[in-house]
Amino acid sequence: MAISLSNFLFAICPLLSLISAGTVTHDFEVSWIYANPDGSQNRPVMGINGQWPIPTITATKGDRIIVNLKNSLGNESTSLHFHGLYMNGSTHMDGPIGVTQCEIPPGSSFTYNFTVNLIDQPGTYWYHSHQRGQYPDGLRAPLIVHDTDSPHKNLYDEEIVLSFSDWYHDLMNPLLAQFLSIANPSGAEPVPDSSLLNETRDLSVKVEPGKTYLVRMVNMGAFAAQYVWFEDHTMQIVEVDGIYTEPTDADMIYMTVAQRYSVLITTKNTSDANFAFVGSMDQDLFDTVPEGLNPNVTGWLVYNDANEKPAPKELQAFDPFDDYTLVPQDKEEIYDHVDQQITLDMKMDNLDDGENYAFFNDITYVAPKVPTLYTALSTGANATNPVIYGANTNQFILAENQVVEIVLNNDDPGKHPFHLHGHAFQVVYRSEEEAGFYDPNNHTAFPSTPMRRDTILVRPNGNIVLRFRSDNPGIWLFHCHIEWHVASGLIATIIESPLSLQSQLDGRIPANHLQACADAGTPTAGNAAGNTKDVFDLSGENTSPGTLPAGFEAKGIVALVFSCIAAFLGMAVISWYGLSEIKK
Ligand code: C2O
Repeated sequence: MAISLSNFLFAICPLLSLISAGTVTHDFEVSWIYANPDGSQNRPVMGINGQWPIPTITATKGDRIIVNLKNSLGNESTSLHFHGLYMNGSTHMDGPIGVTQCEIPPGSSFTYNFTVNLIDQPGTYWYHSHQRGQYPDGLRAPLIVHDTDSPHKNLYDEEIVLSFSDWYHDLMNPLLAQFLSIANPSGAEPVPDSSLLNETRDLSVKVEPGKTYLVRMVNMGAFAAQYVWFEDHTMQIVEVDGIYTEPTDADMIYMTVAQRYSVLITTKNTSDANFAFVGSMDQDLFDTVPEGLNPNVTGWLVYNDANEKPAPKELQAFDPFDDYTLVPQDKEEIYDHVDQQITLDMKMDNLDDGENYAFFNDITYVAPKVPTLYTALSTGANATNPVIYGANTNQFILAENQVVEIVLNNDDPGKHPFHLHGHAFQVVYRSEEEAGFYDPNNHTAFPSTPMRRDTILVRPNGNIVLRFRSDNPGIWLFHCHIEWHVASGLIATIIESPLSLQSQLDGRIPANHLQACADAGTPTAGNAAGNTKDVFDLSGENTSPGTLPAGFEAKGIVALVFSCIAAFLGMAVISWYGLSEIKK
């Protein structure tokens, strides 16, 4: 019996895909190019290989991902973080500068090489620069890990990827200089100029009637959470931050920066009309709303190009779905005991340089001279002693295989989206706003199968309680994902099982990583100050400015600044006058 070629190909196709389920390689050269994504301001953006938006990385569960990065920016160092991937056994590929690697200076190269298979990790992720303040200049894109075993794979026909983000007309460097300034003692964050969908506006998404789509959504913004809704179409949530959920209906979701949602959307049976969908920036985050700001970005589910694209209807109020009620599809039960607890009391305040900083337990993060990973790898048995990691890194050492609980008390009237690298956590508790600090003896019952994700909102003056197992040796940041607050120091460093980390990685840091350090002049051994002889001598380490005398407040600083300026002007006038007198 003859077998046709197509039958033959069909028969070996699964084999071919198994074989090709190997390695996804990208050569990325990062450089500045111009773009005008909202149609009102042409500006420099960080492109890859001369293109912007930069490419989405797509892989299949089990693949190895290799990114050969070359920094051709000319004027800024860079790095890449693969947000949400656990990086088991490869914390040195995680990306944050000063933490797991050195900065990659202009002209240098660096290779990221890791697998996504050690723990099965399908789902919706993204990658972005983890150089301070940099990704909102455009170095950010979705990263999708496909799953041939998805529990939802029979529920949809096609996939759509949508990124949402705020957008600034100015570059981050000048905006950061304005934000972290004695002239901004209250720490008011720059307000975005507009908002983008797939890095553009007025996006049309072609759909066919009578189909179900898996819509993967990522908020890649710097600051603004987004309310998202599709007119006349229900979303069924099936994944958050890479964790499959029991399918759950929602009319509107609230997506903080760095969060992801996959939803199933079933289209109408006819092509009579097109439908708007909207991302609307949460303006509660903005200290002042500039006149004329359009907080919305609109896209359309286009059934028929010949029909109009209707303007979205006005909403009376925002009433988003509460992700705290989601149930993970694997029904992992709540960790019922805690071995190790970390309490983080966060606040915003001024230091004696007059600038506004963010604090955990009264310490604002300042990157050490030696990346924390290299300190852990070069200090032998002392790597379990928190002291060697410095005075301003908010470091916590985790023992191996413990149930760890993070209690975060938000002593600030703002909303903050917190992200943990290297893990997804159980959200065992989230208070309403104004609830104050967490009281273990007074809270509503914990869910028995809590939602897991890697980025979670804490409400104004509220608290959250998160749990995870320390089963992933590495150096993992825990930080607010509002990029302004990363710059003002809202970061803690989790140093997980440092001795196991030594046996995993000692001597295995690739030569190109160490070369980037050499190029940047960053030391790669010793304590936070770079001292290799006496790791308990931290003299010369990087620290924050000092605290203000008690009772001194932002208003006082403004008054001081202006009286200094006035005095200075006064003296200048006197000396000018005096000089001209002499000349006469
Ligand atoms: Cu999106 Cu520290 O990460």
